[in-house]
Amino acid sequence: MPRIRAAIVGTGNIAHFHVKALQALPDEVEVVAAVDIDSARLMEFCASHRIGHRYADIEQMLASQRPELVHLCTPPGVHHAQVLVCLQAGASVVVEKPPTLTLHELDELAAAQGPAGPWLATVFQHQFGSGAQRLRSMMADGVLGRPLLAVCNTTWLRTQDYFDAPWRGRWDTEGGGPTMGHGIHQMDLLGSILGDWEEVSAVVRQQARMMETEDVSLAHVIFANGAVASVVNSVVSPREESYLRFDFERATVELTHLYGYGDDDWRISPAPGFEEQVSAAWKSASHGIGSSHGAQFQAVIHGLRTGSAPPVTTADARRTMQLVAGIYASAFQRRRIRPADLGPDSPFYSRMDGAGARW
Ligand SMILES: NC(=O)c1ccc[n+]([C@@H]2O[C@H](COP(=O)([O-])OP(=O)(O)OC[C@H]3O[C@@H](n4cnc5c(N)ncnc54)[C@H](O)[C@@H]3O)[C@@H](O)[C@H]2O)c1
Repeated sequence: MPRIRAAIVGTGNIAHFHVKALQALPDEVEVVAAVDIDSARLMEFCASHRIGHRYADIEQMLASQRPELVHLCTPPGVHHAQVLVCLQAGASVVVEKPPTLTLHELDELAAAQGPAGPWLATVFQHQFGSGAQRLRSMMADGVLGRPLLAVCNTTWLRTQDYFDAPWRGRWDTEGGGPTMGHGIHQMDLLGSILGDWEEVSAVVRQQARMMETEDVSLAHVIFANGAVASVVNSVVSPREESYLRFDFERATVELTHLYGYGDDDWRISPAPGFEEQVSAAWKSASHGIGSSHGAQFQAVIHGLRTGSAPPVTTADARRTMQLVAGIYASAFQRRRIRPADLGPDSPFYSRMDGAGARW
């Protein structure tokens, strides 16, 4: 099969992970072009990754290169417009998280996909390590029993200078603080394990950073399967950690890491009486793949090659974006929020700060 022609738009920090992961699949993908409005950065990026064509404008690139796949590594505020022009040009898109600033924008993009493509996939790479796959398959096989309780902590540190970048820490350009920009990875993994959520209650705070959005959020979430979770998102935590804990009837499963995990970052503690059964299932399930952009992109390429919507699909990303919107709606409206409260009539459908943040 001919190689997929791919382009990268936005050549800042995360774009390097994208190009390296794509160039590690040389039989499948060819990175033919890159786009950035910062010409010096673009030039350096193309030189160091040996990319042949450079553009300052995404539409010019689409017209002259006609790529089948575009990776958007630009700030969140431009994702919606850039995804739309790519889909309209017939190119499938891999967009960095968060896919859009709002649920409204995400629904528009979902509708702009074709039944047989072009498609939009969102980067949530933590779903793709073997630890997460192992946990999902053990749940599906019934080895762990019912999920009862979960903890989902993103306690990170971003000093004030991090928010000097003009798009960070603002509702109009980043769409939120650590709930939207940082903890979204852990919350996405939580949702990929526990499924749909039914109710959220939350508090958001501005504890220490000077910015428009929150720097801390705390939530409790009830899932449709009956599990309850406590969720903390922070950018003011000097000892940084990403921590997920799932208490099932027959075992506790924990993941402790920072920005990416391997097999050693997972721990399972069987309940009394289930040691042999649980340990045997944990050992025999898949191993060896860490969470990474590369792990997700292999699944994306497989989806494109086989004519199916590549992961993470807009429907899956919506569950996570809806939880983010639910946390802000609960905090600013001072009430419990269910998914049905976040329809087109809600101010939180069109802005993550709704009708305006209420601290
Ligand atoms: N998946 C992850 O683990 C992860 C980690 C970090 C960042 N991200 C996400 O990646 C995205 C980019 O973050 P970053 O840290 O790389 O930002 P960055 O500021 O380092 O890079 C963004 C680049 O986009 C360029 N750009 C801005 N507007 C543009 C436009 N209209 N057309 C073309 N280029 C444009 C900028 O000049 C810059 O080079 C964000 O959505 C962020 O949330 C994801």
